[in-house]
Parts: sequence; C-alpha cells; structure tokens
Amino acid sequence: MTTTTLTEQPAAADTGTAAPYAVRIDHVSKAFGRPGAQQHVLDDISIDVAPGEFVCLLGASGCGKSTLLNLVAGLDAPSAGGIETPGGRPALMFQEHALFPWLTAGRNIELALRLRGLPRAERRTEAERLLELVRLSGAYGKRVHELSGGMRQRVAMARALAQDSRLLLMDEPFAALDAITRDVLHDELTRIWRETGLSVLFVTHNVREAVRLAERVVLLSSRPGRIAHEWRVDIPQPRRIEDAAVADLSVEITEQLRGEIRRHGQH
Ligand SMILES: Nc1ncnc2c1ncn2[C@@H]1O[C@H](COP(=O)(O)OP(=O)(O)O)[C@@H](O)[C@H]1O
Ligand SMILES: [Mg+2]
Repeated sequence: MTTTTLTEQPAAADTGTAAPYAVRIDHVSKAFGRPGAQQHVLDDISIDVAPGEFVCLLGASGCGKSTLLNLVAGLDAPSAGGIETPGGRPALMFQEHALFPWLTAGRNIELALRLRGLPRAERRTEAERLLELVRLSGAYGKRVHELSGGMRQRVAMARALAQDSRLLLMDEPFAALDAITRDVLHDELTRIWRETGLSVLFVTHNVREAVRLAERVVLLSSRPGRIAHEWRVDIPQPRRIEDAAVADLSVEITEQLRGEIRRHGQH
C-alpha cells in the first residue's frame, strides 16, 4: 500500500492553496435567452469555499445548481459577477460517468493523466495508485461494460482525481446509484476528501446526502436561484446517513426547502 497522497503537489499548485479560498463566487448572476425573453436562472450568488472545505449546494431540480457548477468549471460565463479559482482548473465529476467505453478503466484514467501532461512512463503507476485510492485495484484492465454502476463512479472519481486539481466539483455524482452503493461511496468520498485535503463543491437535491457529506450546506431557492439559507454541519466524520444528528438537521433543512418550493412553484 503506497503512502503517497494527492496532498503532495508540485510548487505551482501550492501557490493556489495559499489563497484564502479555493473558489470565490462573487455576486454571480446568469440569464439565458435573448434580451426581452430572458430566463433569470441565478441571481446574485456569492459563495467562498475555503481550501480543504467540503460544501454542498442543495436545491430543488431546475433551481440552477448545474448552471452554477458549470460556471465554476469555466464551461460557461456568468452574465454578471465573477468567479475565481486561484488553484487553476477544477476537476469535474457528473452523474453520468462519461468514461470512454472502448478504453479500459486504467486507460480512461491514463488519458486524464496524459491531458495533465504526466510523462508516459509514469502514467501506469499513477493510474494504479488512483485505482487503489478508490479501492478498485483489480480493475485496471476492465472495460466499462464489465463494471457495476458503483464501480464506474469509482473510476470516474479516480479520473477526476487524475486531473490533480485542488478543487473537485461534483454534480449529483451518486444520484443514479442504489441507496446501498451510494452509502458506500459516501464513505469513500469522505475518506478520500480527508486523505487528500481537497476542496469539494458538491451539488445535490438530496438533503440527507448533503448533511451526510458537507461541512457546510448552502440552500438555493428557485426561479431565480438565490442563496436561501446556510448551515454549518458540526457532526463528526465519518457520519452515517442514519445517524440521529444527520436525521435531525435533515428534517430542519427539508422544512426550509419545502417552504422554498411552496414559494416558487412545484417541480
Ligand atoms: N444552456 C441553457 N440554455 C437555456 N436554459 C438553460 C441552459 N442551461 C440551463 N438552463 C435552464 O436553467 C434552469 C436551471 O437548470 P439547471 O442548472 O440544470 O438546474 P439544476 O441543476 O438545479 O436541476 C432550467 O430551467 C434550465 O432549463
Ligand atoms: Mg443539475
């Protein structure tokens, strides 16, 4: 078992972690459509994620969570406001694993390593280390169709970690999995987050998932998406989704979320 972790960064990445935030979302608004027929999706959102912090962005479907994450990822530009990611390009993980089916698990990860500029000779060892980190050591030569849904998301997580970013953006990565598999992957994500010290901005519509994972939960309202409320979650990790403290806070947040949905129409 290797003791190397992702906290061992080259000097260039370290300058990013010296900033007081891993991402600063500063008065961001986003509208789609032509002037006069615009849909205002996000309105004046400001969130800082501290280095090493785990923040869950929670909201009903359609409230603009993916839109906001795409802005942070640099896939689209805000209509107003600014976004800073001082550590460079964030790593991304989605609900759909987006692995290439014609490549093995190992090769999918090596592709990300190649894009990052890692020399060919080091890619195999690094891919195997990342597979070990997500507890899939034997899967290097497996093709995507040979892997279960949970295993695919583990490979997708390893591939996201292969980007060697200090900021990981996750858009409902476990939403399509069954509850038991999701539970296991929550444990793995918490373990990896604590081992690596990554900053995580995790999007979900699942209140319990947010409370299970996050140090801070930010609730977005709908139409337009605004920050409705924020909670600090002081329950010690590793938590279980069935812990009484997780359940209690989930009830409180669900109440607030219901209120938001009542105010802004059904989904
Ligand atoms: N590229 C786009 N063009 C036009 N409308 C969009 C685009 N992307 C998202 N939207 C709209 O923005 C709203 C929020 O979408 P999204 O961010 O996907 O919500 P969530 O991820 O919270 O479910 C939806 O009404 C959606 O139709
Ligand atoms: Mg979404």
